[in-house]
Amino acid sequence: MALPLEGIKIIDFTGVQAGPACTQLLAWFGAEVLKVERPGVGDVTRRQLRDVPDLDALYFTMLNSNKKSLTLNTKTPEGKAIMEQLIREADVLVENFAPGALDRMGFTWERLQELNPRLIFGSIKGFSEESPYADLKVYENVAQCAGGAASTTGFWDGPPTVSAAALGDSNTGMHLAIGILTALLGRAKTGRGQKVSVSMQDAVLNLCRVKLRDQERLEHVGYLEEYPQYPNGKFTDTVPRGGNAGGGGQPGWILKCKGWQTDPNAYIYFTIQEQNWARTCEAIGKPQWANDPAYATARARQPHIFDIFAEVERWLADKTKFEAVEILRKFGVPCAPVLSMKEIAHDPALRASGSIVEVDEELRGKYLTVGSPIKFSDFKPNITGAPLLGEHTDEVLGRLGYSAEQIAKLRQNKVI
Ligand code: COA
Repeated sequence: MALPLEGIKIIDFTGVQAGPACTQLLAWFGAEVLKVERPGVGDVTRRQLRDVPDLDALYFTMLNSNKKSLTLNTKTPEGKAIMEQLIREADVLVENFAPGALDRMGFTWERLQELNPRLIFGSIKGFSEESPYADLKVYENVAQCAGGAASTTGFWDGPPTVSAAALGDSNTGMHLAIGILTALLGRAKTGRGQKVSVSMQDAVLNLCRVKLRDQERLEHVGYLEEYPQYPNGKFTDTVPRGGNAGGGGQPGWILKCKGWQTDPNAYIYFTIQEQNWARTCEAIGKPQWANDPAYATARARQPHIFDIFAEVERWLADKTKFEAVEILRKFGVPCAPVLSMKEIAHDPALRASGSIVEVDEELRGKYLTVGSPIKFSDFKPNITGAPLLGEHTDEVLGRLGYSAEQIAKLRQNKVI
Protein backbone atom coordinates (compact mmCIF):
# COMPACT_ATOMS: atom_id res chain seq x y z
CA MET A 1 0.00 0.00 0.00
CA ALA A 2 1.23 3.51 -0.81
CA LEU A 3 2.25 5.40 2.32
CA PRO A 4 0.61 8.82 2.83
CA LEU A 5 3.78 10.85 2.16
CA GLU A 6 5.02 8.74 -0.75
CA GLY A 7 6.26 10.99 -3.56
CA ILE A 8 7.20 13.85 -1.22
CA LYS A 9 10.91 14.61 -1.66
CA ILE A 10 12.68 16.04 1.36
CA ILE A 11 16.24 17.35 1.48
CA ASP A 12 17.41 16.73 5.00
CA PHE A 13 20.11 19.33 5.64
CA THR A 14 20.04 18.72 9.37
CA GLY A 15 22.23 17.52 12.19
CA VAL A 16 22.24 16.39 15.80
CA GLN A 17 18.67 15.75 17.04
CA ALA A 18 16.07 18.48 16.42
CA GLY A 19 16.15 18.50 12.61
CA PRO A 20 16.81 14.75 12.16
CA ALA A 21 13.89 13.84 14.44
CA CYS A 22 11.55 15.86 12.21
CA THR A 23 12.69 14.36 8.94
CA GLN A 24 12.82 10.84 10.39
CA LEU A 25 9.15 11.10 11.33
CA LEU A 26 8.27 12.20 7.80
CA ALA A 27 10.38 9.36 6.36
CA TRP A 28 8.46 6.83 8.47
CA PHE A 29 5.27 8.10 6.88
CA GLY A 30 6.60 7.56 3.38
CA ALA A 31 8.52 10.71 2.36
CA GLU A 32 11.75 10.21 0.43
CA VAL A 33 14.29 11.80 2.77
CA LEU A 34 17.78 12.53 1.47
CA LYS A 35 20.28 13.49 4.12
CA VAL A 36 22.95 15.84 2.77
CA GLU A 37 26.18 15.54 4.77
CA ARG A 38 29.69 16.92 4.69
CA PRO A 39 32.07 14.52 2.88
CA GLY A 40 34.22 12.51 5.27
CA VAL A 41 32.48 14.01 8.29
CA GLY A 42 28.72 13.67 8.14
CA ASP A 43 26.32 14.37 10.95
CA VAL A 44 28.35 14.78 14.17
CA THR A 45 26.16 12.22 15.91
CA ARG A 46 27.65 9.47 13.71
CA ARG A 47 30.72 9.68 15.93
CA GLN A 48 29.29 10.91 19.23
CA LEU A 49 28.81 8.44 22.12
CA ARG A 50 29.88 5.46 20.05
CA ASP A 51 29.31 2.06 21.63
CA VAL A 52 31.04 0.03 18.90
CA PRO A 53 34.37 1.29 17.46
CA ASP A 54 34.10 2.64 13.89
CA LEU A 55 30.36 2.05 13.61
CA ASP A 56 27.82 4.84 13.38
CA ALA A 57 26.68 5.62 16.91
CA LEU A 58 23.18 4.74 18.10
CA TYR A 59 22.70 8.48 18.55
CA PHE A 60 22.79 8.70 14.77
CA THR A 61 20.98 5.49 13.87
CA MET A 62 18.04 6.26 16.17
CA LEU A 63 17.42 9.63 14.50
CA ASN A 64 18.08 8.81 10.88
CA SER A 65 16.28 5.60 10.05
CA ASN A 66 14.46 5.23 6.71
CA LYS A 67 16.66 7.95 5.09
CA LYS A 68 19.20 8.05 2.28
CA SER A 69 22.60 9.74 2.60
CA LEU A 70 24.40 11.90 0.05
CA THR A 71 27.78 13.43 0.82
CA LEU A 72 28.15 16.90 -0.63
CA ASN A 73 30.35 19.88 0.12
CA THR A 74 27.84 22.62 -0.46
CA LYS A 75 30.49 25.31 -0.07
CA THR A 76 32.19 24.38 -3.37
CA PRO A 77 30.78 25.67 -6.69
CA GLU A 78 30.17 22.11 -7.93
CA GLY A 79 28.52 21.15 -4.64
CA LYS A 80 26.31 24.23 -4.77
CA ALA A 81 25.26 23.38 -8.33
CA ILE A 82 24.25 19.86 -7.25
CA MET A 83 22.37 21.24 -4.25
CA GLU A 84 20.52 23.66 -6.52
CA GLN A 85 19.51 20.78 -8.79
CA LEU A 86 18.16 18.91 -5.77
CA ILE A 87 16.28 21.97 -4.51
CA ARG A 88 14.62 22.48 -7.90
CA GLU A 89 13.01 19.06 -7.71
CA ALA A 90 12.36 18.90 -3.95
CA ASP A 91 9.15 19.50 -2.04
CA VAL A 92 10.77 20.29 1.28
CA LEU A 93 14.17 21.42 2.57
CA VAL A 94 14.82 21.15 6.29
CA GLU A 95 17.81 22.65 8.11
CA ASN A 96 18.93 23.33 11.67
CA PHE A 97 22.36 24.89 11.28
CA ALA A 98 23.71 27.65 13.46
CA PRO A 99 22.09 31.04 12.77
CA GLY A 100 23.28 32.47 9.45
CA ALA A 101 25.10 29.33 8.25
CA LEU A 102 22.71 28.64 5.36
CA ASP A 103 22.78 32.30 4.26
CA ARG A 104 26.60 32.22 4.30
CA MET A 105 26.40 29.20 2.02
CA GLY A 106 24.29 31.27 -0.38
CA PHE A 107 20.98 29.52 0.28
CA THR A 108 18.93 32.43 1.59
CA TRP A 109 15.15 32.11 1.69
CA GLU A 110 14.98 34.52 -1.27
CA ARG A 111 17.37 32.33 -3.27
CA LEU A 112 15.44 29.18 -2.36
CA GLN A 113 12.21 30.75 -3.62
CA GLU A 114 13.94 31.71 -6.89
CA LEU A 115 15.12 28.14 -7.31
CA ASN A 116 11.76 26.57 -6.49
CA PRO A 117 8.68 28.61 -5.58
CA ARG A 118 6.88 25.42 -4.50
CA LEU A 119 9.58 24.56 -1.97
CA ILE A 120 8.65 24.35 1.69
CA PHE A 121 11.60 25.43 3.78
CA GLY A 122 11.65 24.16 7.35
CA SER A 123 14.10 25.80 9.71
CA ILE A 124 14.96 25.24 13.36
CA LYS A 125 16.93 27.72 15.45
CA GLY A 126 17.41 28.07 19.17
CA PHE A 127 15.52 31.35 19.32
CA SER A 128 13.12 33.18 17.03
CA GLU A 129 14.29 36.05 14.85
CA GLU A 130 12.70 38.54 17.26
CA SER A 131 14.74 37.28 20.22
CA PRO A 132 17.77 39.17 21.55
CA TYR A 133 19.42 35.73 21.62
CA ALA A 134 18.70 35.02 17.93
CA ASP A 135 22.42 34.70 17.14
CA LEU A 136 23.10 31.98 19.73
CA LYS A 137 23.95 28.39 18.99
CA VAL A 138 21.66 26.22 21.06
CA TYR A 139 21.53 22.66 22.36
CA GLU A 140 18.82 20.84 24.27
CA ASN A 141 19.41 22.10 27.79
CA VAL A 142 19.97 25.67 26.71
CA ALA A 143 16.47 25.60 25.22
CA GLN A 144 14.98 23.95 28.30
CA CYS A 145 16.38 26.80 30.40
CA ALA A 146 15.18 29.50 28.02
CA GLY A 147 11.73 27.98 27.51
CA GLY A 148 10.63 27.83 31.15
CA ALA A 149 11.11 24.09 31.71
CA ALA A 150 14.21 24.29 33.94
CA SER A 151 12.97 27.01 36.30
CA THR A 152 9.81 24.99 36.98
CA THR A 153 11.38 21.51 37.21
CA GLY A 154 12.99 20.00 40.30
CA PHE A 155 12.54 20.61 44.01
CA TRP A 156 12.02 23.99 45.64
CA ASP A 157 15.16 23.70 47.74
CA GLY A 158 17.35 22.67 44.79
CA PRO A 159 18.56 24.39 41.60
CA PRO A 160 16.63 24.62 38.32
CA THR A 161 16.69 21.16 36.73
CA VAL A 162 16.56 19.93 33.16
CA SER A 163 14.34 17.07 32.06
CA ALA A 164 15.66 13.89 30.48
CA ALA A 165 12.95 14.22 27.83
CA ALA A 166 14.21 16.05 24.74
CA LEU A 167 11.86 18.99 25.08
CA GLY A 168 14.27 21.21 23.17
CA ASP A 169 15.43 18.82 20.48
CA SER A 170 12.98 16.10 19.41
CA ASN A 171 10.03 18.17 20.57
CA THR A 172 11.04 21.05 18.30
CA GLY A 173 11.41 18.55 15.47
CA MET A 174 7.85 17.33 16.06
CA HIS A 175 6.56 20.91 15.99
CA LEU A 176 8.37 21.50 12.71
CA ALA A 177 6.89 18.32 11.23
CA ILE A 178 3.41 19.66 12.00
CA GLY A 179 4.37 22.96 10.36
CA ILE A 180 5.71 21.24 7.25
CA LEU A 181 2.62 19.08 6.83
CA THR A 182 0.46 22.19 7.24
CA ALA A 183 2.51 24.01 4.59
CA LEU A 184 2.13 21.02 2.26
CA LEU A 185 -1.66 21.22 2.64
CA GLY A 186 -1.43 24.98 2.10
CA ARG A 187 0.61 24.47 -1.06
CA ALA A 188 -2.04 22.15 -2.46
CA LYS A 189 -4.40 25.16 -2.35
CA THR A 190 -2.07 27.99 -3.40
CA GLY A 191 0.64 26.25 -5.40
CA ARG A 192 3.25 28.13 -3.35
CA GLY A 193 5.72 26.92 -0.79
CA GLN A 194 6.57 28.87 2.34
CA LYS A 195 9.13 29.10 5.11
CA VAL A 196 8.24 27.31 8.33
CA SER A 197 10.32 28.27 11.36
CA VAL A 198 10.28 26.81 14.84
CA SER A 199 12.52 27.98 17.65
CA MET A 200 13.52 25.58 20.38
CA GLN A 201 12.65 28.14 23.03
CA ASP A 202 9.11 28.43 21.65
CA ALA A 203 8.66 24.65 21.35
CA VAL A 204 9.73 24.17 25.00
CA LEU A 205 7.43 26.98 26.10
CA ASN A 206 4.54 25.42 24.22
CA LEU A 207 4.92 22.34 26.44
CA CYS A 208 5.27 24.54 29.53
CA ARG A 209 1.95 26.26 28.91
CA VAL A 210 0.53 25.14 32.24
CA LYS A 211 3.37 26.93 34.00
CA LEU A 212 2.50 30.15 32.15
CA ARG A 213 -1.07 29.54 33.32
CA ASP A 214 0.27 29.23 36.87
CA GLN A 215 2.24 32.48 36.57
CA GLU A 216 -0.94 34.32 35.70
CA ARG A 217 -2.91 32.63 38.49
CA LEU A 218 -0.13 33.47 40.95
CA GLU A 219 -0.29 37.11 39.93
CA HIS A 220 -4.06 37.11 40.48
CA VAL A 221 -4.35 35.22 43.76
CA GLY A 222 -0.86 35.06 45.28
CA TYR A 223 -0.73 31.28 45.75
CA LEU A 224 -1.13 28.02 43.83
CA GLU A 225 -3.23 25.56 45.74
CA GLU A 226 -2.04 22.42 43.94
CA TYR A 227 1.65 23.05 44.74
CA PRO A 228 3.34 21.49 47.79
CA GLN A 229 4.08 25.03 48.99
CA TYR A 230 0.36 25.50 49.70
CA PRO A 231 -0.77 26.17 52.37
CA ASN A 232 2.23 25.69 54.67
CA GLY A 233 5.01 27.23 52.59
CA LYS A 234 5.62 30.63 51.02
CA PHE A 235 5.13 31.83 47.46
CA THR A 236 7.17 34.54 45.76
CA ASP A 237 6.11 36.39 42.62
CA THR A 238 7.17 33.59 40.26
CA VAL A 239 6.06 29.99 39.71
CA PRO A 240 8.06 27.77 42.06
CA ARG A 241 9.44 24.31 41.43
CA GLY A 242 6.84 21.81 42.59
CA GLY A 243 8.86 18.60 42.88
CA ASN A 244 6.66 15.71 41.78
CA ALA A 245 3.35 17.43 42.37
CA GLY A 246 0.46 16.63 40.06
CA GLY A 247 0.39 20.08 38.50
CA GLY A 248 -3.25 19.85 37.48
CA GLY A 249 -6.26 19.77 39.76
CA GLN A 250 -5.39 16.31 41.12
CA PRO A 251 -2.64 16.04 43.75
CA GLY A 252 -0.13 13.29 43.17
CA TRP A 253 3.36 12.26 44.18
CA ILE A 254 6.00 9.62 43.54
CA LEU A 255 5.81 7.09 46.36
CA LYS A 256 8.21 4.41 47.57
CA CYS A 257 7.32 0.76 47.10
CA LYS A 258 8.86 -2.49 48.34
CA GLY A 259 12.57 -2.58 47.52
CA TRP A 260 13.16 1.18 47.14
CA GLN A 261 16.22 0.92 49.40
CA THR A 262 18.12 -0.96 46.70
CA ASP A 263 16.16 -0.34 43.50
CA PRO A 264 16.24 3.32 42.42
CA ASN A 265 13.02 2.83 40.45
CA ALA A 266 10.88 0.97 43.00
CA TYR A 267 8.28 3.73 43.02
CA ILE A 268 4.82 4.45 41.67
CA TYR A 269 3.11 7.66 40.70
CA PHE A 270 0.00 7.93 42.81
CA THR A 271 -2.80 10.39 42.09
CA ILE A 272 -5.63 11.45 44.36
CA GLN A 273 -8.50 11.93 41.98
CA GLU A 274 -11.11 14.09 43.67
CA GLN A 275 -14.10 12.22 42.27
CA ASN A 276 -12.55 8.89 43.24
CA TRP A 277 -11.63 9.65 46.83
CA ALA A 278 -13.91 7.09 48.49
CA ARG A 279 -12.62 4.23 46.35
CA THR A 280 -9.02 5.42 46.81
CA CYS A 281 -9.53 5.21 50.58
CA GLU A 282 -10.88 1.68 50.16
CA ALA A 283 -7.90 0.70 47.98
CA ILE A 284 -5.30 1.82 50.52
CA GLY A 285 -7.10 0.29 53.49
CA LYS A 286 -8.36 3.58 54.97
CA PRO A 287 -12.14 3.43 54.34
CA GLN A 288 -12.70 5.63 57.41
CA TRP A 289 -11.04 8.57 55.58
CA ALA A 290 -13.85 8.73 53.03
CA ASN A 291 -16.21 10.65 55.34
CA ASP A 292 -13.78 12.03 57.92
CA PRO A 293 -13.99 15.87 57.73
CA ALA A 294 -10.17 16.09 57.95
CA TYR A 295 -9.87 13.99 54.78
CA ALA A 296 -13.13 14.14 52.85
CA THR A 297 -12.41 17.20 50.66
CA ALA A 298 -9.39 18.34 48.67
CA ARG A 299 -9.26 21.56 50.72
CA ALA A 300 -9.23 19.60 54.00
CA ARG A 301 -6.53 17.24 52.75
CA GLN A 302 -4.12 19.77 51.31
CA PRO A 303 -2.60 21.06 54.62
CA HIS A 304 -1.58 17.49 55.52
CA ILE A 305 -1.25 16.00 52.04
CA PHE A 306 2.28 14.75 52.75
CA ASP A 307 1.07 12.90 55.87
CA ILE A 308 -1.51 11.23 53.62
CA PHE A 309 1.16 10.27 51.11
CA ALA A 310 3.29 8.93 53.98
CA GLU A 311 0.36 6.73 55.03
CA VAL A 312 0.02 5.46 51.47
CA GLU A 313 3.75 4.68 51.49
CA ARG A 314 3.25 2.58 54.60
CA TRP A 315 0.57 0.67 52.71
CA LEU A 316 3.00 0.27 49.78
CA ALA A 317 5.90 -0.97 51.94
CA ASP A 318 5.19 -4.68 51.34
CA LYS A 319 4.13 -4.35 47.69
CA THR A 320 6.25 -4.08 44.59
CA LYS A 321 5.40 -1.26 42.22
CA PHE A 322 3.71 -3.75 39.89
CA GLU A 323 1.68 -5.37 42.68
CA ALA A 324 0.60 -1.94 43.92
CA VAL A 325 -0.62 -0.85 40.49
CA GLU A 326 -2.43 -4.17 40.09
CA ILE A 327 -4.45 -3.38 43.22
CA LEU A 328 -4.94 0.34 42.63
CA ARG A 329 -6.15 -0.09 39.05
CA LYS A 330 -9.14 -2.08 40.34
CA PHE A 331 -10.19 0.98 42.33
CA GLY A 332 -9.79 3.42 39.47
CA VAL A 333 -6.74 5.18 40.94
CA PRO A 334 -4.69 6.94 38.22
CA CYS A 335 -1.24 5.47 38.78
CA ALA A 336 1.73 3.83 37.08
CA PRO A 337 4.94 2.10 38.03
CA VAL A 338 8.05 4.25 37.55
CA LEU A 339 9.58 2.25 34.71
CA SER A 340 13.33 2.06 34.24
CA MET A 341 14.78 2.26 30.74
CA LYS A 342 15.68 -1.43 31.08
CA GLU A 343 12.06 -2.31 31.78
CA ILE A 344 10.93 -0.14 28.86
CA ALA A 345 13.46 -1.73 26.50
CA HIS A 346 12.10 -5.19 27.31
CA ASP A 347 8.42 -4.25 27.50
CA PRO A 348 6.48 -6.60 25.20
CA ALA A 349 3.55 -4.19 24.84
CA LEU A 350 5.80 -1.39 23.54
CA ARG A 351 7.26 -3.87 21.04
CA ALA A 352 3.79 -5.05 20.03
CA SER A 353 2.59 -1.50 19.39
CA GLY A 354 5.69 -0.67 17.37
CA SER A 355 6.79 2.13 19.72
CA ILE A 356 10.04 0.23 20.22
CA VAL A 357 11.36 -1.75 17.29
CA GLU A 358 14.30 -4.02 16.63
CA VAL A 359 16.25 -3.24 13.48
CA ASP A 360 18.73 -5.66 11.93
CA GLU A 361 21.58 -3.87 10.15
CA GLU A 362 24.35 -5.48 8.17
CA LEU A 363 27.23 -3.95 10.15
CA ARG A 364 25.74 -3.40 13.59
CA GLY A 365 23.45 -6.42 13.77
CA LYS A 366 20.30 -6.12 15.89
CA TYR A 367 19.56 -3.00 17.90
CA LEU A 368 16.57 -1.28 19.41
CA THR A 369 15.23 2.00 18.24
CA VAL A 370 12.08 4.03 18.66
CA GLY A 371 9.19 3.52 16.29
CA SER A 372 6.32 5.84 15.52
CA PRO A 373 4.35 6.93 18.59
CA ILE A 374 1.59 7.94 16.18
CA LYS A 375 -0.59 4.99 15.16
CA PHE A 376 -2.64 4.81 11.97
CA SER A 377 -5.49 2.48 11.11
CA ASP A 378 -4.32 2.03 7.51
CA PHE A 379 -0.60 1.39 7.94
CA LYS A 380 2.14 0.67 10.44
CA PRO A 381 5.43 2.47 9.71
CA ASN A 382 8.18 0.03 8.84
CA ILE A 383 11.35 1.20 10.57
CA THR A 384 14.51 0.39 8.64
CA GLY A 385 18.17 1.08 9.37
CA ALA A 386 20.01 4.39 8.99
CA PRO A 387 22.19 5.00 5.92
CA LEU A 388 25.97 4.83 6.01
CA LEU A 389 27.71 8.12 5.25
CA GLY A 390 27.28 8.73 1.52
CA GLU A 391 25.65 5.34 0.92
CA HIS A 392 23.39 6.78 -1.78
CA THR A 393 25.73 9.35 -3.31
CA ASP A 394 26.30 7.50 -6.60
CA GLU A 395 22.63 6.58 -6.91
CA VAL A 396 21.45 10.17 -6.38
CA LEU A 397 24.05 11.75 -8.68
CA GLY A 398 23.33 9.11 -11.34
CA ARG A 399 19.67 10.06 -11.19
CA LEU A 400 20.66 13.72 -11.60
CA GLY A 401 22.48 12.79 -14.82
CA TYR A 402 26.11 12.56 -13.64
CA SER A 403 28.25 9.93 -15.37
CA ALA A 404 30.51 7.50 -13.49
CA GLU A 405 33.56 9.55 -14.63
CA GLN A 406 32.06 12.80 -13.40
CA ILE A 407 31.19 11.20 -10.07
CA ALA A 408 34.75 9.88 -9.73
CA LYS A 409 36.12 13.39 -10.39
CA LEU A 410 33.79 14.96 -7.85
CA ARG A 411 34.99 12.38 -5.34
CA GLN A 412 38.63 13.08 -6.16
CA ASN A 413 38.01 16.80 -5.62
CA LYS A 414 36.29 16.07 -2.29
CA VAL A 415 33.04 17.62 -3.47
CA ILE A 416 31.24 14.39 -2.51
N1 COA B 1 29.03 21.25 3.18
C1 COA B 1 29.75 22.30 3.55
N2 COA B 1 29.62 22.93 4.73
C2 COA B 1 28.70 22.44 5.57
C3 COA B 1 27.89 21.33 5.25
C4 COA B 1 28.09 20.73 3.99
N3 COA B 1 27.37 19.68 3.61
N4 COA B 1 27.07 21.10 6.29
C5 COA B 1 27.37 22.01 7.22
N5 COA B 1 28.34 22.83 6.81
C6 COA B 1 28.94 23.95 7.50
C7 COA B 1 27.97 25.04 7.85
O1 COA B 1 27.67 25.81 6.73
C8 COA B 1 28.73 25.79 8.90
O2 COA B 1 29.69 26.61 8.29
P1 COA B 1 29.99 28.14 8.74
O3 COA B 1 30.08 28.11 10.22
O4 COA B 1 31.25 28.44 8.06
O5 COA B 1 28.86 28.95 8.25
C9 COA B 1 29.50 24.67 9.62
O6 COA B 1 29.42 23.53 8.74
C10 COA B 1 28.97 24.27 10.97
O7 COA B 1 27.57 24.38 11.02
P2 COA B 1 26.72 23.97 12.31
O8 COA B 1 26.68 22.50 12.39
O9 COA B 1 25.46 24.65 12.31
O10 COA B 1 27.58 24.61 13.48
P3 COA B 1 28.06 24.05 14.86
O11 COA B 1 28.48 22.62 14.83
O12 COA B 1 29.05 25.02 15.33
O13 COA B 1 26.73 24.18 15.77
C11 COA B 1 24.56 23.67 16.60
C12 COA B 1 25.85 23.12 16.00
C13 COA B 1 23.59 22.51 16.75
C14 COA B 1 24.83 24.29 17.97
C15 COA B 1 23.98 24.74 15.63
O14 COA B 1 23.83 24.13 14.39
C16 COA B 1 22.65 25.34 16.08
O15 COA B 1 22.57 26.16 16.99
N6 COA B 1 21.56 24.96 15.37
C17 COA B 1 20.24 25.53 15.58
C18 COA B 1 19.55 24.96 16.77
C19 COA B 1 19.60 23.45 16.79
O16 COA B 1 19.04 22.81 15.95
N7 COA B 1 20.30 22.93 17.80
C20 COA B 1 20.53 21.51 17.91
C21 COA B 1 19.43 20.84 18.46
S1 COA B 1 19.70 19.11 18.47
